This record gives sequence, C-alpha cells and structure tokens, in this order.
Amino acid sequence: MERKDFIKTCSYSCLGLMGAAFFLEGCAAPKYLHAELDKEFLLVPLSEFELGSKDEKKFRKYLVAYNSQLKYPVSIFRISDMEYRALLMKCTHKGTELQVYGDRLQCPAHGSEFTQNGEVQNGPAEAPLRTFPVHVDSNILKIDMG
Ligand code: FES
Repeated sequence: MERKDFIKTCSYSCLGLMGAAFFLEGCAAPKYLHAELDKEFLLVPLSEFELGSKDEKKFRKYLVAYNSQLKYPVSIFRISDMEYRALLMKCTHKGTELQVYGDRLQCPAHGSEFTQNGEVQNGPAEAPLRTFPVHVDSNILKIDMG
C-alpha cells in the first residue's frame, strides 16, 4: 500500500470512529432521576449532570426528572454551567408522554417532534412544550413548577 492510500484509509477509519462515537452518544439511554419536590420547586443536584473523573470533567447533555406528584416527567437540558432548560414531557397534540433522544423530544403516538427549546419541529402538534424557569442555587437546580 502506498503512503497516500494508507493516509486516506486511516482518515476514513478515523471519520468512521468519530461518527460511531457521535451516534452512540446520541443513542445513549437518558438518565432518569427521582427529584425532590419542595413546594413548587423541583430540586436537581448539579452533580447529576457530571460524568467522568474530577481531572476530566464531562457533563450529560440532559436528564429526565420525575416525581410521583407530577403527572409527567421533566427533561432538563444543560446548555452551559449556568444555563439549563426544563420542559414538561407532555405532547401538546393529545397529551402523550414524550421520549427524549439526543437534543429532541419525540412523541410515540403520532410522531410529533420538539427541539430542546420546546419548539415544534414536526407535527401534528402545533403548540410548543411547556417550559419552566430554572435557577442555579449553589449546587442545586431549582425548577419552578409553579
Ligand atoms: S399525542 Fe403526540 S403527536 Fe399526537
């Protein structure tokens, strides 16, 4: 094999591995967390987003919080250290509980899709998802369900 062909083959292999890593990350099962409800605030420790070791910190892009007092779970997306988005996982079409995949929420009933901002990506749903204000208080996320 010539040097040029070898480099070409290695480049394709690297691209394939990067694609596989991206695909696996996107397909990784979401973390489900039982979150405490304090009056109207759903409390989620920030440490729940942490992955990896202290030397090499990585973070989950999202997790799903639930509490038996809530009819639907809440997906929480980590945008940055201080910015998070919380969305009620209730389809605005006919109320089916949504599933979260990567940066999207999908409805298993009729296929509606929503972005991590809650906007409709694909119908039949027309209205955006309900969102909640999120406050970062020390090491806790306080999601205002009120
Ligand atoms: S209930 Fe979700 S698309 Fe119909």
